[in-house]
Amino acid sequence: PDPERDRLLQAYEWSAKFYHYLLKNTEHGTAAMEYLRSRNFSDQMIDKFQIGYAPDRWDTLLQFLEKRNFDLGEMEKGGLLSARSEGKGYVDRFRGRIIFPIANRTGKVIAFAGRILGEGQPKYLNSPDSKLFNKSRILYNLHQSKASIRKTRQIVLFEGYGDVISAWEAGVHNGVATMGTSLTDGHVALLKSLADEIVLSYDGDRAGQAAAMKAIGLLEANELQVKVALLPSGLDPDEFVSRYGGDRFREQVIESAVSPVKFKLIYLKKNHILLEEDGKIAYVKEALEVIATLHSSTEREVYLREIASELELSYDSLKQDCNLLRASMQ
Ligand code: UTP
Ligand code: MN
Ligand code: MN
Ligand code: MN
Ligand code: MN
Repeated sequence: PDPERDRLLQAYEWSAKFYHYLLKNTEHGTAAMEYLRSRNFSDQMIDKFQIGYAPDRWDTLLQFLEKRNFDLGEMEKGGLLSARSEGKGYVDRFRGRIIFPIANRTGKVIAFAGRILGEGQPKYLNSPDSKLFNKSRILYNLHQSKASIRKTRQIVLFEGYGDVISAWEAGVHNGVATMGTSLTDGHVALLKSLADEIVLSYDGDRAGQAAAMKAIGLLEANELQVKVALLPSGLDPDEFVSRYGGDRFREQVIESAVSPVKFKLIYLKKNHILLEEDGKIAYVKEALEVIATLHSSTEREVYLREIASELELSYDSLKQDCNLLRASMQ
């Protein structure tokens, strides 16, 4: 038993309800609600994910917690309040931000992420690691997705809150987010304990694609099957849903996820100008290094034939180079 932990859990539970109430039922939440609407967050999703709003004032939550006799020092350590920069006392940590409650796998709120309305830094302000929260071990939305994960043995892995929420509305109920692009060993162990297959659905920008390249290796090293969802360049999953709708997202992005090799080939290709001999040769070299690692000769043939026809090369010469490379890799 850890009474301090229990008090912090109670504080997070009540604070989440309070911020959700302020968003939905008070004038404080009007601008935040408009912002959420402009991003196509529906009422159902706002409720389902208990989204809230922390008004742009110093003491909204402070007073709420004080009235309920919480120890303010404890609340500061737990990440709900901040110490005043001058003098004694505390102020609200989250001010003028949309609140995304982060729950543990049993559904108890253990941290908040606060998004600024519009542009500004930091875009998301998170609770610090605490007695309850360790960012490198928590997957956002696991408590709501675990039922679907148990049935499918598959997890769709996103970067962010909005991606998980938009995907949920699109019918993808086995989605979780790492809350950023860094997939830790702790995350991988958790994923491995829950599923056999991971569908990587990171952002379609450079950072997201580079992170996917890295994640593939980490997941495969832990004997997880991997697929990669492809997005038009620059869009993240949430933006794709807003632009093209949930049905297209499910069918053309998630259900059409490709093999890691296919993804790597697409990724590598982007760095080369295939119309020039140098570019073509450099790309083929990198592509062969990926294909040569495949154990199945059928799989190697499939990809080699694709490249042969795309680059107008003979399958035989590609196969020969691939086999030479394999021999040198032994
Ligand atoms: P992104 O920069 O892709 O943000 O970061 P996003 O999720 O698309 O956010 P919106 O759509 O602009 O609102 C992906 C995730 O990385 C974490 C958050 O979990 C975010 O959802 N992140 C990002 C932070 O924790 N802090 C930041 O300042 C930025
Ligand atoms: Mn949306
Ligand atoms: Mn991103
Ligand atoms: Mn994003
Ligand atoms: Mn986004």
